[in-house]
Amino acid sequence: MARTLISGGTVVTATDTVDADVLVEGESIVGVAAGDHGWSAGADRVIDASGKYVIPGAIDAHTHFDLPFGGTFVSDDFETGTRAAAHGGTTTIIDFANQLKGELVMDGFAAWMEKAEGNCAIDYAFHMIVGDVTEDALKQMDTLIGEGVTSFKLFMAYPGVLYSDDGQIFRMMQRAAETGTTIMMHAENGIAIDVLREQAIQRGQTDPKYHTTTRPPTTESEAVHRAIILAEIAGAPLYIVHMSAKEAVVELTRARDRGLNVFGETCPQYLFLDWERHVCAAGFEGAKYVCSTPIRPRAEGHQEYLWNALARNDLQIVSTDHAGFYYDDDLDGPRRLGRQKRLGQDDFTAIPNGLPGVEERLNVMYQGGVVDGRISLNRWVEVCCTAPAKMFGLYPKKGAIAVGSDADIVVFDPDAPFTYSADTIHMNVDYTAYEGMRISGKPAVVMSRGKVIVENDTYLGSKGDGQYLRREPSQMLI
Ligand code: URP
Ligand code: ZN
Ligand code: ZN
Repeated sequence: MARTLISGGTVVTATDTVDADVLVEGESIVGVAAGDHGWSAGADRVIDASGKYVIPGAIDAHTHFDLPFGGTFVSDDFETGTRAAAHGGTTTIIDFANQLKGELVMDGFAAWMEKAEGNCAIDYAFHMIVGDVTEDALKQMDTLIGEGVTSFKLFMAYPGVLYSDDGQIFRMMQRAAETGTTIMMHAENGIAIDVLREQAIQRGQTDPKYHTTTRPPTTESEAVHRAIILAEIAGAPLYIVHMSAKEAVVELTRARDRGLNVFGETCPQYLFLDWERHVCAAGFEGAKYVCSTPIRPRAEGHQEYLWNALARNDLQIVSTDHAGFYYDDDLDGPRRLGRQKRLGQDDFTAIPNGLPGVEERLNVMYQGGVVDGRISLNRWVEVCCTAPAKMFGLYPKKGAIAVGSDADIVVFDPDAPFTYSADTIHMNVDYTAYEGMRISGKPAVVMSRGKVIVENDTYLGSKGDGQYLRREPSQMLI
């Protein structure tokens, strides 16, 4: 078995920062030690990590690849999406298999397994979106657990599409409590939002900026509160995805302070972007930043509130909710997707919801979090790498630099400045939400199960390197 020594770096985990060497044999970490251990003699390759951080490969617990959505398809499939993820230091994604209304849940799961198999650059797992809570779907949760799916996503938004009513949600939560699995919730009051959207369009308010005004913070906080209470009655663990409103985080914090097993995720777009600059001032280009929950006004203080919540563990995880759509057309591109965001040129309700981001997360969180002094180096590793592994039953195989863990390792150079630009990203999309943002550091080497897949911005892996991961139940529960 090939032996690689990562030498002279600073190993940063969720809890510790130590100068140590890491020895990799085959696909696993077999040694972490400082001082004179004699490992270089038997190594096939020595990677010089001096002046660099050695961190666990990042885990993005919320991506959407190859998903039909908003009248079109997200622009990244598993091949392009996971390769872009690897460039950004992400070595595991957890995507969402999708059951649409009228479909059998196991057919949805099989379809997503087929989309991913043989195409991924990095390891992958699935949550299951249950878009039609039927007797069959409730029963098949056991089958899915056998397949390594231990989390199920429901929607309180998108009536008529993926929406579940309170009775359906509660029945899923009861089954989650019985089976030791987790309910993930898109928490927005979709019924009220649909009324507000219809009224806005009737008033002639068709611009992208009305996407945010028709989803006020209370539509998020009400749904978060309701989901928490339903989960409390059912006794089920609950994970709220893509939180953006401070009022919603207040609800989550209150419930966590009561000792409930409830957890919250936010995404870089809610920490870095704001409605005033990215949506209002941008005219129709604001469509690039239309996602749900929406980008919120900075004047209301959501962004700073989310950063503080992340720092004090009122929010636990940063994922991307990666769902890219072309702004202009991609008719010459690999998937010939047409003008995606422009589908809503005359009506913001027709803009496909979602932002790309799987490539930038680790780097922008390093810049905005660590360099700008909002979170510590260890907290950066925790929210991007370790907490997602624990939350979704992958720890310590993933999310750790420890003997026995998979050798998913990022050698991160904190002194490698660059600027984000649509011209240099690897995602299959024609813009980055972080255009022009200057970043101080980035991955120098990305290793997935012992294989170097990215080095100095060059992709060295192959399609199909990534393996399907069967997950255990959450390891974050109290
Ligand atoms: O706008 C979003 N979030 N698009 C992706 C689908 C979802 O709701 O997570
Ligand atoms: Zn969602
Ligand atoms: Zn999502």
